[in-house]
Amino acid sequence: MPSTAATHPAPASSATSKADQAAAFAKGLEGVIGGQTGVCSIEQDKLIYRGFEIHDLAAHATFEEVAFLLLEGHKPDSRELERFKAEVIAERALHPAVTTFIESAGGWLASGRAVPMDIVRTAVSILGHTDPDAQDNSAAANLRKAKRLLAKIPTIIGHMQNVIDGRALIGRELGGDPSLGHAANLLYMMTGRRPTTAEARTMDVSLILYAEHEFNASTFTCRVISGTLSDMHSAIAGGVGALKGPLHGGANEAAMDMLKEILASVGPDGIGTPKVDAWMEQAFTSKRKLMGFGHRVYKNGDHRAGILHALGRKMAATLPGTFGGIPASKWFDLGEQVQKIMLTKKNIHPNVDFPCGMTYFIMGIPVPQYTPIFVAARITGWCAHVMEQHADNRLIRPLSIYTGPAEKKWNG
Ligand code: ACO
Repeated sequence: MPSTAATHPAPASSATSKADQAAAFAKGLEGVIGGQTGVCSIEQDKLIYRGFEIHDLAAHATFEEVAFLLLEGHKPDSRELERFKAEVIAERALHPAVTTFIESAGGWLASGRAVPMDIVRTAVSILGHTDPDAQDNSAAANLRKAKRLLAKIPTIIGHMQNVIDGRALIGRELGGDPSLGHAANLLYMMTGRRPTTAEARTMDVSLILYAEHEFNASTFTCRVISGTLSDMHSAIAGGVGALKGPLHGGANEAAMDMLKEILASVGPDGIGTPKVDAWMEQAFTSKRKLMGFGHRVYKNGDHRAGILHALGRKMAATLPGTFGGIPASKWFDLGEQVQKIMLTKKNIHPNVDFPCGMTYFIMGIPVPQYTPIFVAARITGWCAHVMEQHADNRLIRPLSIYTGPAEKKWNG
């Protein structure tokens, strides 16, 4: 891996002056290089997973292939892929301790004291207690744990949705239907209905797009935790917590909630009319952040957004009936109108969470499960980064600039 030492200034250490530290300070670590990685590269015009560009992967790979690529480090041949898929399918079922917890969580979910991301976070913690490799940070143990987490997150989501819907757990013994691929099985466990090929592929591509994204907030959280030589489940539980926030993964739910709010305000006939512009103007005036827009790194648009938008748009055209009161395509009409206004007035592009919201909505997925599904994908990237951190570790410990009171005496 090339050294960055020649192109970046030495870090501000405790030996440097306060003035040097202040000069090196960037709020939110914006623009700061936090480490090296061979997992993913983000540029304004390209997103690459271990050498493969995201449009190429979305068009030609499956999520299982991408998961292998991220976790095992190279493109699988057919024998490796079959072995990997079999290993993951064999790990789908949950330990009774986890199932019992999910079954007990219905009240918290119903009362709003917990949301599905909280249940995923706690379930990941309990998975740690049930994993035979829990305290082993070796590369081999980490890979085994990563595959188990990859296999079990969809089961957690499926069982949780079954509890919310008041139905018996689907696929309790085997974690779904072993004949179904990862994306199709996730949908099956949530609904009890085997998805169409188009639905399964749309979910599959969304998982590919969500799988990895370099040093984003949740991945960085995972790296900070594993950098203390803590274990994988601790790191992933932290990653889930970071992803939950609406400025990060929680934006896919928030984006759909926002579109529903716009529809409720303008009415179905208001789509395509100045009523939407007026709603947006009001949002701008109140300095409201529009969810699913903007990105810390991408300033000319998120590569993943266009891919998912096109896929969702295509699926919408095939779906009869209404979704939340309007035909599927109308959601994309509304979304495109909002996007156009954001671009014209603010020069801000949608990120992947914006088309995700609409796409999952027309697939009938309950909104509070959008971010847990993001976890089902990002678990691959997180685990790849935990393994990379453990393989070449240095404690992650930045400095801060003190803004508190001047020194004073306790007794005087
Ligand atoms: N809506 C309205 N204005 C916005 C938005 C938005 N979504 N995003 C950025 N802006 C504005 C800011 O208000 C700011 O304006 P100002 O200079 O007049 O104050 C300017 O654009 C720069 O934005 P920052 O907040 O400095 O950008 P930052 O890099 O800190 O934030 C972030 C990036 C957090 C993603 C932000 O764009 C945001 O809050 N977006 C909405 C939440 C969202 O969609 N998050 C998902 C990100 S992708 C992911 O995690 C998978």
